[in-house]
Amino acid sequence: ARWQTCVGLARQLLLVGTKNEDLKLTYLRTLIDDGLPKTTAPKRVLVIGAGISGLVSAWLLKSAGHDVTVLEANGSRIGGRIKTFRVGPETSEQPFSDPAQYAEAGAMRIPSQHPLTLALVDKLNVRRRPFYNVDVVAGTGNPDGTPPPVSYQAFTGETWTNGTGTGGYKPPTQASNAWILANGLRARKSEYGDHPAAMNRGFGMSESMLNKTTHASMDSILGPIYDYYSTRDQDGTRKLKPFDQWVEGWARLLYDFDGFSMGRFLTEYADLTDGSLEAIGTIENLTSRLPLGFLHSFLDASDINPNVTYWELEGGTATLPYTLLPQVSDLVVMNRRVIELEYFDPKRAGQAVHTDAKNQVWVRTVQETGGDHEPGTEVPGSFQEYTADVAIVTIPFSALRHVQVSPLMSYKKRRAVIELHYDAATKVLLEFNRRWWEFTEEDWKRELDAVQPGLYDKYQSEAGGVPAVHAVGGGSVTDVPNRFIYHPSHQIGDSKGGVVLASYSWADDAVRWDSLDDDERYPYALRGMQQVYGKRVEAFYTGRGKTQSWVRNRYALGEAAVLTPNQLIQLHPAICTPEGPLHFAGEHTSLKHAWIEGALESAVRTALEVNAA
Ligand code: FAD
Ligand code: ARG
Repeated sequence: ARWQTCVGLARQLLLVGTKNEDLKLTYLRTLIDDGLPKTTAPKRVLVIGAGISGLVSAWLLKSAGHDVTVLEANGSRIGGRIKTFRVGPETSEQPFSDPAQYAEAGAMRIPSQHPLTLALVDKLNVRRRPFYNVDVVAGTGNPDGTPPPVSYQAFTGETWTNGTGTGGYKPPTQASNAWILANGLRARKSEYGDHPAAMNRGFGMSESMLNKTTHASMDSILGPIYDYYSTRDQDGTRKLKPFDQWVEGWARLLYDFDGFSMGRFLTEYADLTDGSLEAIGTIENLTSRLPLGFLHSFLDASDINPNVTYWELEGGTATLPYTLLPQVSDLVVMNRRVIELEYFDPKRAGQAVHTDAKNQVWVRTVQETGGDHEPGTEVPGSFQEYTADVAIVTIPFSALRHVQVSPLMSYKKRRAVIELHYDAATKVLLEFNRRWWEFTEEDWKRELDAVQPGLYDKYQSEAGGVPAVHAVGGGSVTDVPNRFIYHPSHQIGDSKGGVVLASYSWADDAVRWDSLDDDERYPYALRGMQQVYGKRVEAFYTGRGKTQSWVRNRYALGEAAVLTPNQLIQLHPAICTPEGPLHFAGEHTSLKHAWIEGALESAVRTALEVNAA
């Protein structure tokens, strides 16, 4: 049974359909090219949640001729975990001192291998530009050129694309000037790449690994894992195995490793010493996730690594849901939190109170005051009920936990709602009135002395002077609480300043920030920045910041589904199966957890399910 489950999971992970068709191709054609087949039997559909998965499934079903209503708990904005701190349709409140500035609370980067997301962005004419995970050399490549079209190579051999030609875009050269600061040792990423031993020794890494970067070490540790589904050519490049062996290899990999945490994998399987474990954990951003499932971080590594091209949306990621909104705005009811859900199950018709064969879905909603950042209270007497033929539940299972569902859903579904692990993720953003991270030492001197003559020398004479990082985009890694720091990839308008993601952390790293109130976080985040970049960065801090703790977000209740060991096999198969007239969408129902791409796959899948039902 475990083996059959793994085969099913592998097919789901690889998006292999029942006829061995490539489901990604089906989803691209449905979402981007053709829409759903027009219905001859329109249904009344309730979509719960106006995040990206709810908006997209509603749009597809409306276009096919169904009667759709979207219920959204948030009173002030749609988009869910796509949230930009900005002035926009959702708020006129200025988050930063410079009115042009904005920054991401949630999703910020789209990898080039996420075709549904990028093709949707292009279809809606939302402008995208590169997001630099690694800092680049200014003036190289052609980063402002037209982005290349989206192209997807299906495992069936077919290719899907939304354009021709290459666009004018050429990636700039990577500089890797940003810092690694750990154990009190400092190196630029490029220096670490060339001479990793000193930094590695700081962790007490084992002799055999001292001369390799942690990235390279991790890659060789994972070699035998890649071998499950691919083969290595003489020149080192990897080729996927033929279809049957590819699917079976993945099933075997899930079978063998779903029970592993990343920590267990690195110690028990890869036999790392403590020092090596700590070096890899710190630099490769795995420490906080050592207790979480090996497979999550393994899959994530293919989306987050220095060789991936990423895109960001001009005006912020929220531009995506807000550009889609006019297509469905007549369907969306804001400020309607679903608190009770009943569905009709003929086997248990006796338990139906509000539903019958004609009205198979019933929900009770309540209004809450304020947006998602304010303490919500139920507005007395604000209950409102809705009925429908079918529903798509897109809210995270962490949110569904607080919805009373009757009759009881299947045992496995209930266990998944109870147990599915949601990770913590926290961002602290600080605004600066100069883009000092791009400065050379000469720029620092000019700009500091412009603030106050002699200021440059004053900072230089203080202990702990740090050379100019001189980085366009990219960011630093450190063992101070900030952990991962990202510089903005682009200048915004004519602004001289910018908003730095001073801390982006996950799991236990994030919880350290979650324990602080929002306003307490900024001075700590600034102090951490000063450890990494030098005391002088304070000269350009505007005193304004924004922070988002996703476990404390009242409508997300977590960052995303990040599974603990065994949850893939134990829980995932039941997560996306319908319960009578209830269908389940959202990031957590896909196997691209914590990505917009996964949410979109689920949106098209459920729209197809409902249209065909
Ligand atoms: P959601 O966006 O959570 O939508 C659910 C909606 O339901 C919300 O609008 C919510 O308000 C509403 N709701 C909740 N409860 C109820 C209720 N009871 N009744 C009615 N409505 C309710 N993805 C990327 O592609 N790139 C990234 O760089 C990236 N970075 C990320 C960083 C962070 C910190 C986070 C948190 C996420 C990131 N993601 C990223 C993931 C991406 O944001 C999500 O996968 C995606 O937005 C999830 O969409 P969804 O529709 O599944 O869920
Ligand atoms: N997709 C998100 C990002 O780009 C998060 C990925 C993984 N999150 C996690 N908690 N492991 O940053």
